Amino acid sequence: MKFLHYRFLVVVTALLIITACNSGEENKTVTSESMSLKVGVVKIDFGTVDGKPVYQYILTNAKGDQVKITNYGATVTSWSSLDKNGKKTSIVLGFDSLSGYLGGSPYFGAVVGRYGNRIAKGKFKIGDSTYTLAVNNGANHLHGGIKGFDKQVWDVAETADSLPVLSLNYLSKDGEEGYPGNLKVNVTYTLTDEDELTIEYTAETDKPTVLNLTNHSYFNLTGDHSNNILDHKMMIKADYYTPVDTGLIPTGELRAVKGTPFDFNTPKKIGERIGKVPGGYDHNFVLKRTDSSLQLIASVTDTVSGRKLEVFTTQPGVQFYTGNFLNGSIKGSDEIPFNKNAGFCMETQHFPDSPNKPKFPTTLLKPGEKYHTITKYRLSVE
Ligand code: BGC
Repeated sequence: MKFLHYRFLVVVTALLIITACNSGEENKTVTSESMSLKVGVVKIDFGTVDGKPVYQYILTNAKGDQVKITNYGATVTSWSSLDKNGKKTSIVLGFDSLSGYLGGSPYFGAVVGRYGNRIAKGKFKIGDSTYTLAVNNGANHLHGGIKGFDKQVWDVAETADSLPVLSLNYLSKDGEEGYPGNLKVNVTYTLTDEDELTIEYTAETDKPTVLNLTNHSYFNLTGDHSNNILDHKMMIKADYYTPVDTGLIPTGELRAVKGTPFDFNTPKKIGERIGKVPGGYDHNFVLKRTDSSLQLIASVTDTVSGRKLEVFTTQPGVQFYTGNFLNGSIKGSDEIPFNKNAGFCMETQHFPDSPNKPKFPTTLLKPGEKYHTITKYRLSVE
């Protein structure tokens, strides 16, 4: 009799779980990840920042690949997929909990803005007006300043939870970190069934300003950040790069990559010539492109996992950064340190310090104009 009672309870509990899973409520908050395997988006509590609730959103596609994104910094915290041996691991560096992001994350997975990369001395002019920005990297302004977009709690637009799409909004007020104009920003992530993560950025301002948005994900295709990325093979479609001074500010020159360690037009191991680049790769490449449509600009392969990452963008440049400043002082949630070269970034963007370099493509955004860029990362296993 007792046994029958027990079986009855199990059946009722299972029915209750199935009903809850199929209830179709939008962006429903759940307390565990048990419901996160169905296609779409599931929302999980992740903590609070500045008194505002922070969530983690799990995007799942039909293949069962998952991208996790938190509205703190519109940050990609994990992208898990199967490798060639059927092992599921994450190909981006990140933390399992919010505290990792609050404890000095080097922009892991975040959306950076208003300006990705550096603006010399934190100063620029629009017309006759000079603007002074927060300085947070030596004498220069980096990735939007002291409290850039990576440290803001974004609002999430409620969308159908049956699609692996997440739309995040942020209003950057006039004067924030020294930038002019109220700027409305939207970033929309979409995970397709072809294992593509598309990031679409749009923005509008009410005063002329400068804008350069990018995503700062660090990739490690082995899926294990105790490995470095020096054996990954990289291809970048670029005939020129922008050399920098000692403060990593472009000199203004566009230098040919031919015959230098910056030539990745035919795939090369990242580590093959890195010793000839003082400090490692941390440079903007001038993309070889026919127009501003979404085009393939780079691809990376790793023989250990069999994974391949292709990068498509509408942007004119990409900052190829090999995690040179990671030094083991930050640890993952698994207690494994993030060592030098534990990940590489492909930050699709306009060129650093463009507001002070009239010959670089402009980053000026005026009222009435719509900022719109798209970047897509496509993952496959060979
Ligand atoms: C920059 C590096 C910087 C890193 C982390 C990259 O985009 O180019 O110089 O150290 O971000 O902040």
